[in-house]
This record gives sequence, C-alpha cells and structure tokens, in this order.
Amino acid sequence: MLQIKHLLFPAFVLKACLLWAQLAVPAVYGNLFVDSTGVLRGKDAAGNTFGLYRKEALFTLSGVTPKVSGDPNGLRLHFASKKLRGGQLTYGLIPYGQHTYPTAVLRFTASIDSLGNAFLALRKDLTDGLDHTGWKKSGFGTIGYRLTDAEGLMVYEGKQAFAVAGSNLEPRPTVVRGPFVSLQTHNSVVLWYHTSSPVQTRIQTNLTAEFSKQPTKRHVVELLDLQPNTAYNYTVECDSARLSFRFRTAPVPGNREPFTFAYASDSRSGYGGGERNVYGANAQIMQRIGALSCHEKAAFVQFTGDLANGYVSDPDELRLQLTNWIHAVEPYWHYLPFNVGMGNHESLGWASELNNWVVIDGFPYETHSGEALIAETFVNPTNGPVSEDDAPYDPNPGIPGDFPTYSENVFYYTYGNVAMVVLNTDYWYAPGLKRNPSLNGNLHGYIMDAQLQWLKTTLAMFENDPNIDHVFITLHTPPFPNGGHRHDCMWYDGDNTNRPWVAGKPVDQGILERRDALLDLCANRSSKVIGFLCGDEHNYNRMVVDENTPRYPVGWDKPRVVLKRPLWQIINGAAGAPFYGQQKLPWSASVEGFTVQNALCLFDVTGKKIVLRVINPDTLEEIDRTTIR
Ligand SMILES: [Fe+2]
Repeated sequence: MLQIKHLLFPAFVLKACLLWAQLAVPAVYGNLFVDSTGVLRGKDAAGNTFGLYRKEALFTLSGVTPKVSGDPNGLRLHFASKKLRGGQLTYGLIPYGQHTYPTAVLRFTASIDSLGNAFLALRKDLTDGLDHTGWKKSGFGTIGYRLTDAEGLMVYEGKQAFAVAGSNLEPRPTVVRGPFVSLQTHNSVVLWYHTSSPVQTRIQTNLTAEFSKQPTKRHVVELLDLQPNTAYNYTVECDSARLSFRFRTAPVPGNREPFTFAYASDSRSGYGGGERNVYGANAQIMQRIGALSCHEKAAFVQFTGDLANGYVSDPDELRLQLTNWIHAVEPYWHYLPFNVGMGNHESLGWASELNNWVVIDGFPYETHSGEALIAETFVNPTNGPVSEDDAPYDPNPGIPGDFPTYSENVFYYTYGNVAMVVLNTDYWYAPGLKRNPSLNGNLHGYIMDAQLQWLKTTLAMFENDPNIDHVFITLHTPPFPNGGHRHDCMWYDGDNTNRPWVAGKPVDQGILERRDALLDLCANRSSKVIGFLCGDEHNYNRMVVDENTPRYPVGWDKPRVVLKRPLWQIINGAAGAPFYGQQKLPWSASVEGFTVQNALCLFDVTGKKIVLRVINPDTLEEIDRTTIR
C-alpha cells in the first residue's frame, strides 16, 4: 500500500506542475507571473513578491451530489464530500402535480456515516398514512432531501426520483433543478432545467410537444410562436415524472396595460443559522421573496447581485452557492422569470497569501472567472457587449481573450412599455485593487469603457423606440451610497484617484468622473431613464438626484455635470444579507424611507404612471409607497 502511495505522489505533483505550466497570465494584469516552480506570484510596489493560490473549497456542487444505488428497502446515497460525514440527511416526498408550488415535505432523517453514505428506508418510512403522493400504488416517486453537516450547517437541498423494480427500489433519472422560465418575450420563452443524468425529456404545452433531440443533463428549450400576454400550461416529462406548471408571455411591445415587477438584491447568508444560511445563500428571505412575488402577480423579478457569499476560487463551490439560491426560489421560478445581475460577491478568483482573500478575478477566464460562472449558471439575454477587448487600454487590440466575457452579465430586456438595462459594476473585479493596485484589475463600482459605450448605444435605441416609455437601469453598486459603502461604490469618500488599472497603467478617468458619465447618459441623453435600481448596501432607501443634490467632494477641480432632469436612485439590498445602517454623506438630506428591514420593491406600471410599493417579505408589512412617475 505504501509503495503505491509513493508511486502516485510524484505523478500527482507532475500533473499539478503541468497544469501550472499551461497557465497563461492575461496581459491586462500587472506584476503577475508564474515562477520557476509553477507558482503564480505577484509583486507589490516595493518589489516584494507573494504567492497567489486557489482557495480550497469547503463544499462543492459535485461533492454534495450523490451517487445513488437501489436496495429492496430503500435508496443508498453516497456523498463524496468528506465534510458531510457525521451530518444528516432529512427527506420527504415532493408532491408534484398536487401542489401549485411543490416542495419536499421533509419528514424523516438519516445519518451520513463515516464513509459518506446515507440509507433512506423508503419502504419503512413512507408507508401507508405517510405516502401522500401514492408512490406505493404508482410504483414511482420523487423525494427531496436536505443535507446538514455535523455542525448543523445546511449545505444543500437535492432531489431523487425512484421506482419499484421487482423486489427492489431503484434510482431513476431526476429533474434536479427546474423547470425555470427565462427570456420571456411577447411570443417566446425559454424553459430550462437540469437532470441527474443525460436523458431525453419532453415538454408538453397547450399547443405542442417537444422532445429533446439528444440525451443531456442541461436542457434549454426555446418555445416559439406563442401568443402575447397569454398563460400557457406546460409539463416537463422526465422518466415517469410529470412536472406541470404555467408561464405567461409578455404583452406585445408597447402595450400599456398595467403590470407589476419586483426588484431586490443582496441575499448572501445572514446570521442566526437555519435557512438564513443554506451554504452561502439566505434561502429564508429568498423563499419569502419568491412567494410574495407570485402572490403580487409580478410579471418578473429582477435581482441584481450578491446572490450568495462567493469570494471563492473553485468554480464548483460558487456553483453550489448559486444553486442554493436557485433552489430557494425554484417553486416560484416555475411560473415567472428571475432575471439575475452580477455583484461583487459573485467573485471567483485568485487569493493572495498576504490576506488569504480573493484579490483578482479568476483565469483562465473561460473556466475560472465569476463572469463565466454567471453565464453557465443562468439563462440570461446575450445582447450585451462582448468584453473590454479593443477598449483604448487593451494591450492586444484586435485579439480577443484579454478580458472576461460580458455575456449574460450585461444585457437588456423589455416588458410592455418598460426596458430594463442590467449593468455589471463588478466586471473583471479585483477585490484587492483599492488597497494595492499592483496586480491591476477593475474597481468595485466602475463601469469600464466598452460597457459604458454599449449603455450609450442601448439608451439611444430605447430613446427612439416608441414602444418604450420607461427605462430602468439596474446595477449592483449605487452611484450615491447611503449605508455601508461610503468608502466605495461610486464615491470612495470623494477620492477620484480610485480607478481600474490595466496592463500596468491606471485608466484615464477616475471613479467620480465615471459616475458623472453614467449620470450624464441617463439624465441628459435620455428622457426615459427613471433611475437606478441598486443594491450592495443591505438596506432599503430612495432618493431623487437632481441638479441641487450635493455630489462633489470639497476642492473638486474637474468638470461638473449639469443634470437637466432628476433621476431616482432606489437601493434595495435588503434580501437577507447582514444589514448596514445609514451613513452621513453629502446628499443625505435627499434620502427617504431608509430601513434595514428585509424588503421587496414592487413597481406597479400603468401606462405612463409608475407607483413603487415596498413590502417586507418576512412580515408582509408595507414599508413604503410613492409615485415614481
Ligand atoms: Fe455587494
């Protein structure tokens, strides 16, 4: 046995070295190199070098996804994650087809043993009187289960279908996530879902049936030629499971019939245990936000960043955290779209040994950047800019790949007479930049050139579109922070020297100049932009920004943008992350409605008129109500 270990060890080291040898440092970083031993190293301003590394994951999606085998009395689930050993699995049947929002009715608990196995005694547990889905008669059922580690941390919630096969119970292919409704237009939607193994499935609607052409685990199906403003029942069929829900198409472009949409952000884990932290995500508040959005008949939910804790290096760890967020709203997403933007906590990157924290975005970008993970995890529009390649600071103009993608993290969509423009203020985000710019990267809150140019083009398009009356800009960081982020967002205590660094050089414009460029586009080049839907700060508040709003630091000697019309700034980062109280800022006199309660914004759009209602999703108390336009 020892001999085998000795033989394996050099092979493992050799493989690791080969991997490092292949690592190419993008030219946009500075003072970053792979040393002769294959370690990625950075150099600070004094010339001292330090190592960068990928933080080891605590839990990963693959680590909590079981291998399942059958048994005459139940199912045996094996989990690869060592940290689950000594923990518990709690399970129950999912009543698909019986409840509008089916979720696992948790009822029985099994231990996860020292080898990572849990045995679910289905025949004994889910017997007469407790078999509420009738699996004994049909010979088929689906269980949902929750995993907690030995310390009681909720780590993941999964699903497993099973069937009676002779005297045995056997695992069956399972829809483990979804179906979800996304990319909703007046004549199409996309339904997407994940299955436990590569299988062919079928989608049945009132009109059509679509079989998948190839076996796959990730199913993304576009339904075309639909009628506007119409409800469609649909059923996803996987093996013997029938998952039946309903979606609604958007009205024809320019329709002025009343509708409501919901907005929130910042649902990373809260304090106090339980569902407030299902590994990385505040599932408790997100479940409430999903239920309230459905209850209020929202057409869609916009959620802009900091879904889960992030700041990790292993893509599969961020995948698990985002999946936990998805599972929290899954019962509601069967019916209405959740459109997701990016925040700083979707950070996936290299950690510095100096502070054991992620300091730059991950590369290779295609597999290890936060941007790639967002695109892989969600089904968002792909109508944004490509990347910052070919911007004036690109060290390799004409050659793609120096920057990560904007695909599915910057985009727009429309509904009726409203356009929603989703920006990314944490693109190519380097969390370590503010303290030490030596490695280069983008600054939290800074909209880089190509994204700003795309916004300009997009706003001009909507300005000339007679179907659009209102344009909302949603972005994670507020231009005017009010509670928790006076030291960053787009203010940095008024210090305009803060800016991105690319290929060893600071870019031309500082954070305040870039904030002004954003304000100029939205207030002066557009008559339709209502304002900004932001987060990052874990509270709710609103303000009107106009020419009279103090917005420059003492001694500002650069041009001042004159605002020709007012803009709203609505901050709602109150979806479950730990609260921030109000801070004193030059524009504080304009701030109204500040609260640290959990909050969901509901915008009631009636033609040219918009009313904002804000409801605490936990208590259902109305927190605020005001006419926006
Ligand atoms: Fe944030």
